Amino acid sequence: MSDIPALAPDRILRFHAPDKVFHSLNAITWFALLFTGMYVYFLNPSDEAAETAMLIHLILGAVFTFNLLGFIVIAPDRFALIMRACLEWDRNTIYWFRNFGGYPRRFFKIPFGPVEVPPQGRYNGGQKASYLLFMGMIAALAVTGWLLWIGAPVTGKFVYWATFYFHVWGSIIISVLVVCAHIPLALLSLEHFKGIWRLGPGTISVEAAEHHAPIWFERDVVRTDIEK
Ligand code: HEM
Repeated sequence: MSDIPALAPDRILRFHAPDKVFHSLNAITWFALLFTGMYVYFLNPSDEAAETAMLIHLILGAVFTFNLLGFIVIAPDRFALIMRACLEWDRNTIYWFRNFGGYPRRFFKIPFGPVEVPPQGRYNGGQKASYLLFMGMIAALAVTGWLLWIGAPVTGKFVYWATFYFHVWGSIIISVLVVCAHIPLALLSLEHFKGIWRLGPGTISVEAAEHHAPIWFERDVVRTDIEK
């Protein structure tokens, strides 16, 4: 018997519990880490305030790291599913970049590329590229964070300096991408937004699945009746 709860006929399970926990905890700790880090780096606080902020930053960094490790260890199938979906680059994925999903035309009236958007799988071309970047940076920020924290005595001056600037500016650049692209684009589909953030089931409507990810819907949801 399947361990997936019965769904309403017009709903599709897109986000399983581990996906939702990983994404929410990652997003919350990400921004809390960004604010505490930027506060110390840019605002030149008193020694006492900087020490408190850094202590909070380190505790949050540990939660951030174990959130990623926990996701991989507890739900390796879900982690693999997301990575596999991001790494599958077929013709339709590449062709998505010919008109950037039609967004320049839709939002800025720029007639960029063909009008038609090729049908996409679980993620579109832009999502695949950005999620690979996000997952890579989540891992890289965790590794560089621990290196800066407990590896400092053994790393040379240059390695410490390079790691520090990568950690600070890498996190800021990805945060700009998250705030200016990921969040606004995520809000375009309230079904996906509610599916990944709500406390209840991670379902989306059939309509949203057919509209945003027709190949995923056709190939992975309808035909096999399992979300793979
Ligand atoms: C408040 C902030 C955020 C919002 C509203 C948000 C929203 C969303 C939504 C709606 C999706 C589902 C997209 C889909 O399946 O089509 C998603 C997926 C994803 N987001 Fe975010 N996100 C936020 C923060 C972040 C941050 C900070 C990161 C990492 C830097 C991130 C990384 C990802 C990744 C890797 C996925 C794919 C995971 C999956 O499909 O289970 N998100 N996000």
